[in-house]
Amino acid sequence: MGDEQPWWRDAVGYEVYIRSFADSNGDGIGDLRGLLNRLDHLAWLGVDICWITPFYPSPQADFGYDVADYCDVDPVYGTLDDFDAVVARAHELGLRIVVDQVPNHSSDQHPWFRQARSSPDDPRRDWYLWRDPAPDGGPPNNWVSHFGGPAWSLDEASGQYYCHLFLPEQPDLNWRNPEVRDAFDDIFRFWLDRGVDGFRIDTAHLMMKHPDLPSNPQLAPVDASASHIEQWLSLDHRFDSVQPENHEIYRRWNAITSAYESMLIGETYVFDADQWNDLLGPEHELDLGFWFLSMWMPWDADAVRRVLEGPRPPGRSRAGWVLSSHDQHRPATRFGGGESGRRRALALSTLWLGLPGVPFLYQGEELALEDGIVPTEAKADPVGFADDPTSGRDGCRTPMPWEPGVAQGFSTTVDCWLPPGHTDADTVAAQRADEGSFLHRYRQLLAVRRGLTGLAEADMVIDQDGSVITVQRDDVAFVVNMGPDPVPCRGAILYRTDPDGSADVIAADEAMIIRMSSRFGSPAGRSSRRG
Ligand code: GLC
Ligand code: CA
Repeated sequence: MGDEQPWWRDAVGYEVYIRSFADSNGDGIGDLRGLLNRLDHLAWLGVDICWITPFYPSPQADFGYDVADYCDVDPVYGTLDDFDAVVARAHELGLRIVVDQVPNHSSDQHPWFRQARSSPDDPRRDWYLWRDPAPDGGPPNNWVSHFGGPAWSLDEASGQYYCHLFLPEQPDLNWRNPEVRDAFDDIFRFWLDRGVDGFRIDTAHLMMKHPDLPSNPQLAPVDASASHIEQWLSLDHRFDSVQPENHEIYRRWNAITSAYESMLIGETYVFDADQWNDLLGPEHELDLGFWFLSMWMPWDADAVRRVLEGPRPPGRSRAGWVLSSHDQHRPATRFGGGESGRRRALALSTLWLGLPGVPFLYQGEELALEDGIVPTEAKADPVGFADDPTSGRDGCRTPMPWEPGVAQGFSTTVDCWLPPGHTDADTVAAQRADEGSFLHRYRQLLAVRRGLTGLAEADMVIDQDGSVITVQRDDVAFVVNMGPDPVPCRGAILYRTDPDGSADVIAADEAMIIRMSSRFGSPAGRSSRRG
């Protein structure tokens, strides 16, 4: 690509959780035709990239993250023709399509694993990670699944264990086997030839494991009552995560995708900033990496500053900035819920849209949705139940509310895979009809950001003054007031989250984009300057 800037430099992404976005055929499950019918919403909102979560054939043990065929569409979601129609319409609208790639593990129903499991002598056996039991007959090492319990399941027929860092239905592929690498090269090309503009790489930090599969050092004792997160955190993931050889794989993929000017965005789920920066690699590896510490931070200025200070991606790689996804409680809920939680979510989005890199919204974030209500008997996520009824990922996955009426316009049936968990007032249609709604405020925010050309090259200076956080890029400041009291502000207001706010003050839970001139000094709070 030479010195030319890549197309995603100024882009804003939007995550579509396909199962919950829009249902075109009344079976209560979102699908590609449903997305096709609603793509105009993304264009109207003003985002550039549409990332679609997995729609491949799958037994849906982890709702699509257990892939049984990497080069087709699950009939529940439609057909390859439907996918082509989505790509064609998206491109007409000026949107780019990013698909999910799930290389760490397949479904246990994938023909590869069925073959591998059929016999220790099968040529596909080594495509997965098999080991003999430990001397006591238990699992070969102490690795745990992200979803709780051992990362090993016994295959009775052969007497060997196979490794799965997620569900037993998601066996881990052996990325040291060159045939696995070749197979994925072909999968990348399959989708690139269908016109996709990029890939979101699921659990990009996990593919390679230490060749000897040694036990991880135990950091803290755990017993059987520990939650899946406590189990995970009790180990130093030195041997099952972030192995240096991942970089070989990223470079190999980048050689393929860059020939199509397509991008690679890693689900780089590591919280240590140095490790994260290293994972992104110098150049021609992952173009973007998601930085997820933001999904775990409370409404607290110190915590937000720490999150902002983490990513310093090397070379031309960039951070993907998120406040929400299909895996975590929605920000309006995390930041206290109600009107104040929703205002806080928009306020932090304003800051996030000012960061160097590519911000992503998750469907419904533009409506400032809280988590949907999912009664215990309707829960579907395989993760989290046993620990705690409010855990699990169903609340952020309830159907997208489009318009007042049956299932808020998501489907023609109320009998949806997860219950429609929002109100008529939450819907896109209701909010579009109200100029002061969150939807209009998010749209205006995106429009203002789009107008700030040239910011992509500007360094960022982070300043904290008590509860006020400022991100400064050139002469533009993104300021959020996380404290209880209003603070004075100076400069020309380009955007504010409270359209009716009083001049010259940033209210509690409010954010602004301000163009500064030198005579104004710092944009908020005390008038000293830093950086
Ligand atoms: C990623 C996905 C999550 C899935 C997991 C296993 O974290 O975002 O939804 O359960 O990978 O594939
Ligand atoms: Ca459907």
